[in-house]
Amino acid sequence: MEENNRNKIILEHRQGEALNTESLNVNGGKKLFLESYGCQMNFSDSEIVASILNKEGYSTTTNFEDADLIFLNTCSIRENAENKVRQRLQDFKKIKKHKPSALVGVLGCMAERLKTKFLEEEKIVDLVVGPDAYRDLPQLIEVAEGGQKAVNVILSKEETYADITPVRVGSNGVSAFISITRGCDNMCSFCVVPFTRGRERSRKPVSIVAEAQNLFEEGYREVTLLGQNVDSYLWSGGGLKKEVLTEEQRRNSVNFAQLLEQVALVSPLLRVRFSTSHPKDMTDEVLKVIAKYDNICKYIHLPVQSGSTRVLERMNRGYSREWYLDRIAAIRRIIPNCGISTDIITGFCGETEEDHKETLSLMEAVKYDFAYMFAYSERPKTLAERKFEDDIPEEIKKRRLTEVVTLQRTHSAYRTSEGVGQTMEVLIEGISKKSNDMLSGRNSQNTVVVFPKENFSKGEYVSVNVERCTTSTLIGKVHGKNVE
Ligand code: 5AD
Ligand code: SF4
Repeated sequence: MEENNRNKIILEHRQGEALNTESLNVNGGKKLFLESYGCQMNFSDSEIVASILNKEGYSTTTNFEDADLIFLNTCSIRENAENKVRQRLQDFKKIKKHKPSALVGVLGCMAERLKTKFLEEEKIVDLVVGPDAYRDLPQLIEVAEGGQKAVNVILSKEETYADITPVRVGSNGVSAFISITRGCDNMCSFCVVPFTRGRERSRKPVSIVAEAQNLFEEGYREVTLLGQNVDSYLWSGGGLKKEVLTEEQRRNSVNFAQLLEQVALVSPLLRVRFSTSHPKDMTDEVLKVIAKYDNICKYIHLPVQSGSTRVLERMNRGYSREWYLDRIAAIRRIIPNCGISTDIITGFCGETEEDHKETLSLMEAVKYDFAYMFAYSERPKTLAERKFEDDIPEEIKKRRLTEVVTLQRTHSAYRTSEGVGQTMEVLIEGISKKSNDMLSGRNSQNTVVVFPKENFSKGEYVSVNVERCTTSTLIGKVHGKNVE
């Protein structure tokens, strides 16, 4: 995540970024404008889409007025995420007027959730393509070019796009995402993801390790392994579900701890991050692997959602407050210097003032480095929508959210200040946003560190003496360059 976003207490993930691979393929002369919304997985999927269309001769543009294809990779997680996409579609109406051949496509979670309804609701849309149907894009575009509406929202139990090399040109050349699982089997009652991204499936470990190896050889120095629940990663020869494995098959499978170790072994100079961990599935075995390898970053994103066991039960999260705090204690015991972040929802169905106070007290107990915080937004078809009343008035949801955000701000500032006076290894990601004379990177705990540029450049590891900080950024001087 970027410097400014990462260190602000943001209420939404970064939004609406357009992929730019202009320098890549220009042979077909056709141009694709591709804008992504929502989670890191969507950004990673957009790199797959760009790769598939690049093979078809499309280059990408950041100017939608130039584009032959205008694609939005959408998010359904909260209502306002969907509203943003609908608003954005309005901008494209005028383009269609002066360039009628331009096609507008909606990809991702909103496409999957609304299916053909999208075509009725938003007349401007020509293609509706779900997250497991991107291989079909060339055919769908042909259909749309022929003047018909094109839809593929079939979810797959197998698709992992394992053999497609994502196009990375939108990135900083230092950090890249690698998807390791798709879909989610958890059915948290508030969450639309299991409906929009389908059943959970793990990707073959050799293809993951090969992707990390290739990235390293291309000069990348950090990979983030992505999944809705990375801890439930399990490769058992393909297609086999955990529940039906024999003892022997289980012994021969690769779990997340083993995968993490394999990726860490690609090179000690390749940093490894991962997201998202699930409190019910995160094992001590995983924590021990993180502790064992210096290049596995000491940072865990462990969404709690609520500090009240009663609410967690209604959320169908599969753990209690005590279980969660035990996992935090395990992290602190096994990885003493670990950064921890979380996700919190305020105003879930039936949340009392008492429940809310339990969330605040849990935050006090953990003192997260960082948090993503949201007011509950009811999503169609979810368990919560069917079972519970969305009974917390909007102003109470918002007031509780403000309290959570305010408290988190003090914790983030406290955690950042702990870095002052320390010497830490930083992977340089580029020029600092605030000054051309400063470079910016992150420490293992994922905090942004800025320091004078001197002769250093991105992709290098440096050792920084931290002298001071703002609420979210560490500021220091390079004390030495680390091994190349
Ligand atoms: N309302 C509010 N926040 C939600 N999240 C998921 N579904 C909802 C919802 N319906 C949040 C959770 C999750 C993060 C990605 O988004 O905190 O961890
Ligand atoms: Fe949604 Fe829960 Fe799956 Fe995360 S683990 S994607 S919150 S259902």
